[in-house]
Amino acid sequence: MMTTAEAGAASRQATEETLLTVRDLHVSFPGKGWRAARTEVLKGVDLDIRHGETVGLVGESGSGKTTIGRAILGLVPVASGTITFDGERIDTASTARRRALSRDLQVIFQDPYTSLNPSLTIGDILAEPLLGQGIDAREARSRVGDLLDRVHLPADAAGRLPREFSGGQRQRVAIARALALRPRLVVCDEPVSALDLTTQRTVLDLLLEIQADTGVSYLFVSHDLSVVRCMSHRVAVIHRGEIVETGDAEQVTTAPRHPYTRTLLLSAPVADVAEQRRRREQRTASAGQLPG
Ligand SMILES: Nc1ncnc2c1ncn2[C@@H]1O[C@H](COP(=O)(O)OP(=O)(O)OP(=O)(O)O)[C@@H](O)[C@H]1O
Ligand SMILES: [Mg+2]
Repeated sequence: MMTTAEAGAASRQATEETLLTVRDLHVSFPGKGWRAARTEVLKGVDLDIRHGETVGLVGESGSGKTTIGRAILGLVPVASGTITFDGERIDTASTARRRALSRDLQVIFQDPYTSLNPSLTIGDILAEPLLGQGIDAREARSRVGDLLDRVHLPADAAGRLPREFSGGQRQRVAIARALALRPRLVVCDEPVSALDLTTQRTVLDLLLEIQADTGVSYLFVSHDLSVVRCMSHRVAVIHRGEIVETGDAEQVTTAPRHPYTRTLLLSAPVADVAEQRRRREQRTASAGQLPG
């Protein structure tokens, strides 16, 4: 078993090769009401994710983080721009091609309570994607055993229902399901936000360990900058549908270049009351420098 530090160090070996390229991505949604104008949610987003790399995506609520993930997964229509995965344009992929791509592109959502079908056993939940790709029942059963082992759940978990597990354990099941088809990119949309702090740590360690072993890439969406910093090689900051800053995780989270990122950093909660007050003052002072 690897320690967190080892897993972290190993997962830092991202290659230079790009796996996913997003260029000038625009997404808009119909406005509410009669002849309302469409709302432009993504306004020309550029993003690159390399093999084995984690790109953290931070920004305030409503800035478009989930929409980027959903566009990559083909779950929202793209108005213009391109999304290229491993050299192939996927924003224009057919439904059949999308289904095949779901082997390579997976997602882990925030809420482990609603993302698992409550009436299926864990074994069935994990076997479903395998059977769907034509893997026979015997092989699927053995792969389910490996997956449970992989996320540190006991083998007898296969026969139980989601409600018999804690939030952290369910999120392990969700991770196992996302990994079942050995994907190359996983969109992690606030994967630990619904978990308590100790459980967050173990789930994050698990994601790092899996990356070190398999070389999977992550798009890691979170509003928690400290979580993003410890998980990511690079960080992209989104503000009102535009990426305002991208860079090395350490640099963006400690010495940001863009005034919006500085405001975001100052908004992160800290335990120390005096520090909190100092930040509030700085935030008020720097708010004046913010464009738009
Ligand atoms: N299907 C939809 N139809 C209409 N508007 C939508 C739809 N999905 C998202 N939006 C709008 O797009 C904007 C961006 O939403 P998105 O979910 O991407 O934000 P987010 O950055 O993930 O926020 P949060 O941190 O709260 O999850 C929001 O204003 C939201 O209301
Ligand atoms: Mg979201």
